[in-house]
Amino acid sequence: MCGIIGYLGERAAAPIIMESLKRLEYRGYDSAGVAIYNEDADKTSVVKSAAKVDTLVDRLTEDMPAGRLGIGHTRWATHGRPTVINAHPHTDCTNRIMVIHNGIIENFAELKRGLQSRGHVFVSETDTEVVPHLIEEHFKGDLVAAVRESLVQVRGAYAMAIFSQHDPDLLIGARLNAPLVVGIGEKEWFIASDITAIIPYTKKVLLLGEGEMVSISSLGPEVSTLDGSAVKPRIIEVKWDISQAQKGGYPHFMAKEINEGAQAVSNALRGRLTEEGVVAFEEFGLTDRQLLKVRDIKMVAAGTSFYAALLGKYIIEDLARIPVEVEPASEFRYRQPIIDRDTLVVGVSQSGETADTLAAIREARRREARVISITNVVGSSMALESDGVIYLHAGPEIGVASTKTFIAHVVCLYLLGIRLAAVRHRLPPERLRELAADLKRLPDAVHTVLERAETLQAMARKYARYQNFMYIGRGINYPVALEGALKLKEISYLHAEGYAAGELKHGPIALLDKSFPVFAIATAGATTEKIVSNIQEALARDAPVVALVSQGDPVLDEMTSDRIEVPAVAEFLSPIPNVVALQLFAYFVASERGCDVDQPRNLAKSVTVE
Ligand code: M6R
Repeated sequence: MCGIIGYLGERAAAPIIMESLKRLEYRGYDSAGVAIYNEDADKTSVVKSAAKVDTLVDRLTEDMPAGRLGIGHTRWATHGRPTVINAHPHTDCTNRIMVIHNGIIENFAELKRGLQSRGHVFVSETDTEVVPHLIEEHFKGDLVAAVRESLVQVRGAYAMAIFSQHDPDLLIGARLNAPLVVGIGEKEWFIASDITAIIPYTKKVLLLGEGEMVSISSLGPEVSTLDGSAVKPRIIEVKWDISQAQKGGYPHFMAKEINEGAQAVSNALRGRLTEEGVVAFEEFGLTDRQLLKVRDIKMVAAGTSFYAALLGKYIIEDLARIPVEVEPASEFRYRQPIIDRDTLVVGVSQSGETADTLAAIREARRREARVISITNVVGSSMALESDGVIYLHAGPEIGVASTKTFIAHVVCLYLLGIRLAAVRHRLPPERLRELAADLKRLPDAVHTVLERAETLQAMARKYARYQNFMYIGRGINYPVALEGALKLKEISYLHAEGYAAGELKHGPIALLDKSFPVFAIATAGATTEKIVSNIQEALARDAPVVALVSQGDPVLDEMTSDRIEVPAVAEFLSPIPNVVALQLFAYFVASERGCDVDQPRNLAKSVTVE
């Protein structure tokens, strides 16, 4: 989704904005632009490009605009094609008010008609352009008041950064249903869509709440609500540093992040699990008494997080024997979910900002359910709006395809399952100890899979020419098959489907022939023999088969399939090492096909619109 950066300080704004825009690229975008105000000339330079940020950087490097106030934007097109004219910043009739925006202004057509009837001239097809014109109309000498009056008229979602030549000592930010943070440096301030954009400059971050505005002057930031009431700023210190948001020698962020899988397991476990299997979360928010009252669980999530949540169903139902339903967040909010105060709603989201998931947990709270979120981003909207939060502690994930955070989510769900089981006295002490020991061994298993990267790369080379893939798994590895297929399709643009292996014969088997490989997750478990039969069925239709098997397991020795061995772990925990193999396979296939794995076409890292 769109990325926002704003700067006000004592340094030249343009180079900082350029660097931050590069850092925002991972969010997904199709065009970019900047506006820099030069106080000596009382002039704003606007430069836009309908291509990558590098094109913008090249143009600016030739002729770098001077000025200590500026805004920059990466646009992910919603209203209007990705053209230079539609790229942000947008301005008013006088070209003095500059606005960048992430989100959708739902009533823009109506606002635009009104503005046009009053003589305003529009140049773009965007919804955003109504905002500078509204500000122009409301401006009577007080920019903050004009912004406030304009935003009150706007319906929908927005994170915005605004400045005006009318008051060039002011940088204004505002948010509603879209993320925005404020970075506080030494006599300099930043407004950004996320912390990644500003991490080289400051670790001190002011979290802007829903429906809040910040006006930053050389005296510092002032936070208020849209109706003008002052708000006490919430400031946090970011724990991670710049090296975590760099490639660190890897060709892609995705490669780096897959390789951080073992670390992600350790980080998610750290300080939360004793050898006796006792789980404690630091900001969990729910007491044992409240957990005991939980009658059923609903999980809401999107994309990869949805598949992590699906694994959560297997995990929690098995350990705690509480019924769990998992639903795409985008569906949950528009029906009449049966929930009440005895339902625990779990929002699963890497970013904590996905519009659908955020809306779903709001709906759940409105219906009085208890809500916890499992997320990677400290201070994200979901974290702030839930009764409790479990942080992944996975460090920033820049690649659009989620990898290490999928693993971290699943580890947190194991821990949640154990915690829920413990309050219900569902597990005997020896099972708890065994689970704790097995979980603590997982990083080693992930390491072993990572060491097999060359084998996976060779396999990927062999299979990269196919156009279609069928991923199959059973039991707890069924969601892993779904995630494997999603990983492949999103970064390599190949058609891939995930199926419960037993379902193959009920329809999709009709697709199989020698041009349609099957990727079977056949690691050791209660249903290995069943999946071996499913593999036989695929081979009998001439489909090439790649099988993920447990190390040393002779199960497929007799068959003509390709094998990838992963370390033998308890079936219940096998999704973790298995998914790493699938992530590597997808990564190598996409690389082999020359795809832009970190920024796949049409995708955004955090989808903050519906
Ligand atoms: O930030 P979230 O976990 O809520 O994001 C949800 C999905 O948009 C995300 O998982 C998406 O499917 C990724 N591209 C997966 O790799």
